Amino acid sequence: MQPRKIIIDTDPGQDDAVAILLALASPEEIEVLGLTCVAGNVPLDLTQKNARIICELAGKRDVKVFAGCDRPMGRALVTAEHVHGKSGLDGPDLPDPTMPLAEGHAVDFIIEQLREFAPGTVTLCPLGPLTNIATAFEKAPDIAGRVAKIVLMGGGYFEGGNITPTAEFNIYVDPQAADIVFKSGAPIVVMPLDVTHKALVTKERNDAFRALNTPVGIAVAQMTDFFERFDKEKYGSAGAPLHDPCVTAYLINPDLFTGRHINVEIETTSELTMGMTVADWWRVTDRPANATFMNTIDADGFFALLTERLARL
Ligand code: BDR
Ligand code: CA
Repeated sequence: MQPRKIIIDTDPGQDDAVAILLALASPEEIEVLGLTCVAGNVPLDLTQKNARIICELAGKRDVKVFAGCDRPMGRALVTAEHVHGKSGLDGPDLPDPTMPLAEGHAVDFIIEQLREFAPGTVTLCPLGPLTNIATAFEKAPDIAGRVAKIVLMGGGYFEGGNITPTAEFNIYVDPQAADIVFKSGAPIVVMPLDVTHKALVTKERNDAFRALNTPVGIAVAQMTDFFERFDKEKYGSAGAPLHDPCVTAYLINPDLFTGRHINVEIETTSELTMGMTVADWWRVTDRPANATFMNTIDADGFFALLTERLARL
């Protein structure tokens, strides 16, 4: 089978970094057309730099990395240095990148690629606020119908929110953009907090990354160690959730996850619940289903896959 063509839209972020490394380690299943960067965990100048750092760590200097939108569509940017550190990639000591940023805007790259390849062949993988994707859909209304699938990390239903009581960070940062994407008609698979809070980096799983004893394995151990410091206190759990790699793991082995095809709408007006993913899990409305909202993960299978793939880099 041909590898699936994907664009990773990202705001690295340690967990974004691991998601990208997993994709780059899996060329049989995944062809990364490019990384499109957005402001989120940290401002755009850092997310685009961090994306290049990760490509170089993986030994993939030829991956195209584009800078995109530097602020949400209708609100001031909210960042998450309290989780990811000042650089967004605190933990390992990685060199500044020498590979250049690709020329052009991330939004134009997304539009071009969706128009260049046959309809239904390019998958979008958003790991941050949905600003770039929604801006592309607004600028080029023909492309939403050409998207094979959008597999994104964002939202939460049973777990509530992680930046407000009701909102998950990626959706909260740009609710207008999320609203556009969820209404776009493109097939959507959501990895919400309900899944990612079950993908915990325990000490044993972190040790397994470190035991790879490669630059990638050690860096991933250090990255997941770093952001655990904040999350462990917050969740009092065995380890920090590893959010974004659930997206790229799904592309490799969707059987690791289960969920429901339901209606999901985004709260864009109430300040109290801004950015909430209003998921009709129990199908109590007759609003049409627009997303497959995941709820379970085979966490042991997920970490086994991740460790095995990272060993290839
Ligand atoms: C999401 O927010 C970011 O902090 C992470 O990178 C992830 O994409 C989790 O809420
Ligand atoms: Ca992210």
